[in-house]
Amino acid sequence: MKRRIALEKIVYAAGMLIAVPTALTSCEDDIPAPDDNNNTNNGTGDKLVIDISSAGYSALASAGGSVIVNNIIIANTGNNNFVALSSKCTHNGCTIFYSAANNHFPCPCHGAVFSTQGAVLNGPAQTALKSYPVSVDGNILTIG
Ligand code: FES
Repeated sequence: MKRRIALEKIVYAAGMLIAVPTALTSCEDDIPAPDDNNNTNNGTGDKLVIDISSAGYSALASAGGSVIVNNIIIANTGNNNFVALSSKCTHNGCTIFYSAANNHFPCPCHGAVFSTQGAVLNGPAQTALKSYPVSVDGNILTIG
């Protein structure tokens, strides 16, 4: 009996390894990846849909957590609020990160800092980050 349960777990895990990347790929392909800092959603209406209860996005289940998908950084800013910004610094393209302690997005390369709306709080960046609308329905985030 234990052998059967172990076999079922292996089969289930193998199925998840196949199914999850397929589902994520199809979602990620739907949203245009910003290729520069002034890029906008291309108007196709494509959305990025994320289930924060899934393993790849579990960081978003807690306040202060963040993930980067398709050059978009998504952060849980607390109280079930989420923001989504281009993850590429407008100064020279480095990848920004979310600082939960300060509730802003610093760039590690030359010190630029962006607000949760993408506005420049500190240079040398001069241009705001692209901001994407985020809607929340339970564990599902829809971005774009
Ligand atoms: Fe971000 Fe220079 S690339 S501050």
